[in-house]
Amino acid sequence: MPATVILGAQWGDEGKGKITDLYSRDADVVVRYQGGNNAGHTIVVDGERFALSLIPSGVLYPQVTPVIGNGTVVDPGVMLKEMDALSERGIDPSRVRVSGNAHVIMPYHRKMDAVLERYLGKEQIGTTKRGIGPAYMDKYSRFGIRMQDLFDPKIFRQKLEIVLKDKNRQLTKVYNQLPLDLDEIYEEYLVYADRLQDYVTDTSLLVWKAIHGGKNVLFEGAQGTLLDIDHGTYPFVTSSNSTAGGAVTGSGIGPRDIDSVIGVAKAYITRVGTGPFPTELHDETGERMIEIGGEYGVVTGRRRRTGWLDAVALRYSARVNGLTEIAMTKLDILSNFGSLKIAVAYDSLGERYDEFPRQQRVLYNCHPVYENLEGWGVDISGVESYDDLPDAAKRYVERVEELSGVRITTIGVGPGREATIAHPAP
Ligand code: GDP
Ligand code: IMO
Ligand code: MG
Repeated sequence: MPATVILGAQWGDEGKGKITDLYSRDADVVVRYQGGNNAGHTIVVDGERFALSLIPSGVLYPQVTPVIGNGTVVDPGVMLKEMDALSERGIDPSRVRVSGNAHVIMPYHRKMDAVLERYLGKEQIGTTKRGIGPAYMDKYSRFGIRMQDLFDPKIFRQKLEIVLKDKNRQLTKVYNQLPLDLDEIYEEYLVYADRLQDYVTDTSLLVWKAIHGGKNVLFEGAQGTLLDIDHGTYPFVTSSNSTAGGAVTGSGIGPRDIDSVIGVAKAYITRVGTGPFPTELHDETGERMIEIGGEYGVVTGRRRRTGWLDAVALRYSARVNGLTEIAMTKLDILSNFGSLKIAVAYDSLGERYDEFPRQQRVLYNCHPVYENLEGWGVDISGVESYDDLPDAAKRYVERVEELSGVRITTIGVGPGREATIAHPAP
């Protein structure tokens, strides 16, 4: 395991939290490398449910140092609340470390997120409205405030004054909103700074030392490959690199430090928010996937869109991430469906596509070419070894391996930590 990336291979909510928690048993450091509190990662231990948004999923293990890397955007109020909530449940969050270079989500980012979505109307992205996009916009326009800035009140105030003047101009003159108050924000964030000071450190050095000191390091992605700003279904994406490259830039290590990349993929697909989704179901089967799979967002509570597994997209994900293995979650949910489908290609505008199309117009017009597979129709949630899975379930897993070109090494058959089957090489 030395340095392993665990990331979403689809449109998010694949079960990254569960898989990261599983691997964290043997980890020393677990790093979140991008995104912010748009993520909602669920872990279930002995029937107790934890929903984490910013704190890495390794936090439940006492030997793990959870790290929030430079590539993330941090809402300090949310971070502190999440740490307090963990404390209340008997989990010590004092080991958390956050990069001084991570950008800070400010109240005007949340406000801009909401007004930009309103401005887009029916063209909206369906963001989580947590200020993620506007915070990354400021980072790339070199207008951002970083964690380290909060600890120098004079510099912080200076930067805030300049930025807020510009934001208030936009909010009032362009979007017809009330301006935000400088002193109020300044005071609020100084209180956060006071509490966060001890957690901020040079996380790039911390992670490098761990890797080169022979420790086990996990990199936990948020969102998923098809929500990646470069490789996803732009513009219906998030504003960071959720693909494997993001683990490198977002934590300050070199590509040679990474040993393996695990793509987490649901046995079917879900998506929250708008944008293309070739295998989406608009029928009763899709409704049943939502209800049986409990497909409601962790962060916003929105109903997720559902559809059959898309092997074209999975093969694409294998390529852009250099996946070395796949962890397939929620195979147990498919027990409820008599016959199953997997998309093996697309038809679009009179042409067949075996590879994921890069052109938005082509993607929008995609109709999946399906392969039918037999269901197994029996509950598998108590199955503990691969050999004990019904033959049809094994055929499903092995067909996905063939189509994606990647071995499925872990199979989820329930939300709990223990509901996981190892699939060793034959
Ligand atoms: P993440 O954002 O990728 O961490 O995924 P979410 O936590 O948003 O959504 C995944 C949901 O599926 C959560 O409710 C998990 O508890 C649940 N889950 C994860 N793996 C499995 C599995 O193998 N079977 C079942 N039934 N539920 C699972
Ligand atoms: P986890 O880590 C699923 C989606 C939003 C929206 C788009 C942009 O739990 O898998 P943003 O607020 O990031 O600007 O929204 O991305 N989105 C997610 N969908 N899971 C997530 O995180 C997501 N984070 C963002 O719904 O379509
Ligand atoms: Mg989620």
